[in-house]
Amino acid sequence: LSIKIDPNIYALVKQTSLPEDLGFGKYFSPIMVSAHYQNNRWQNLCLKPYESLVLDPATMVFHYGQSIFEGMKAYRNNDSLHIYRPIDHAKRFQLSACRIAIPELPVEMFVTAVTELTRASAPLIPQDEIFTFYIRPFIFADQIGLGVKASESYLFLVIGSPSGDYFSDQAVRVMIERKYYRSAASGGTGAVKTSGNYACSLLSDYNAKVAGFHQSLWLDSKSGKYIEEMTGMNFFVVRKGKLVTPPLNNSILSGITRNTLFYLAKELGIEVVEKPLPIDEVTSDITNGQIEECFICGTAAGITSVALLGEESGQSYALHSVNGPITTKLRQALNNAQRGKIPVPKEWILKI
Ligand SMILES: Cc1ncc(COP(=O)(O)O)c(C=O)c1O
Repeated sequence: LSIKIDPNIYALVKQTSLPEDLGFGKYFSPIMVSAHYQNNRWQNLCLKPYESLVLDPATMVFHYGQSIFEGMKAYRNNDSLHIYRPIDHAKRFQLSACRIAIPELPVEMFVTAVTELTRASAPLIPQDEIFTFYIRPFIFADQIGLGVKASESYLFLVIGSPSGDYFSDQAVRVMIERKYYRSAASGGTGAVKTSGNYACSLLSDYNAKVAGFHQSLWLDSKSGKYIEEMTGMNFFVVRKGKLVTPPLNNSILSGITRNTLFYLAKELGIEVVEKPLPIDEVTSDITNGQIEECFICGTAAGITSVALLGEESGQSYALHSVNGPITTKLRQALNNAQRGKIPVPKEWILKI
């Protein structure tokens, strides 16, 4: 599959210098990939300078939100550079597209796009192992018009951000969201990565921060009784030495980190149970010590330990063990897997 490469990109990368303190998703490689869907096909895949977009005010994405994205990473392992699980991200991107009537982008085109962006951006990815290259592929409807319908044209873009840690704290305080729900209901869009899911979460995120928490924990929208996931991460507890997480219904995102942890836990001899987690049972098991540890996981933040769950009104349930033994063991294994330091299924690591 061919991608057109603008020869100016190499000089642009060479001229770019980034600060030492990168943070997360703040600084960008000066190049990007784009492709256009027009006349019933994806076309014009090219790698070119990062540039602003000029969009008509009646561009459909502004009005009806037809937009999806992925979040994935490239890692350095000594002298080599690789992308982690690009095919799985490509497939999830297709599921997201399908759900909101965006034409699927071929897996091969997705993989070529992320590979070439990463290859050309390599000089900007620091050697030090606390850094990664966060890759953000996205698609939005760029047809002009106000009729409510699926757009007939779309733009696919991929940008990349050399990044450090997502959370600056060692453990997070999580607010149980009792009042609002994301777009995640049975038959809704929670199981895919549409931008609207995140728009729905932002008021809760704001309220959580005002109340002194880092993030919101979403409950199922039907009964409000069961834990689903975080705004951008999946949720796990350690109960009596076993790893427990809610099963994938059709409203939880099938996290690639979650799936990696299933594989790693098996290797480490830790039992994983997919089981509905009633919020009230979890808070009481935290209090009585049956739940020993709790963590959240995703591409952006890896494994982050939960220090406490709490209500917006103030009552909170502190975990007995923060960054406890199982959380720490799994975090180490996850880092090693993502960095290509331990054996994993071979299609998970795409060397650049
Ligand atoms: C809602 C939601 N859940 C879970 C995750 C974790 O998924 P992954 O491990 O594939 O990054 C993400 C991040 O993409 C997310 O946005």
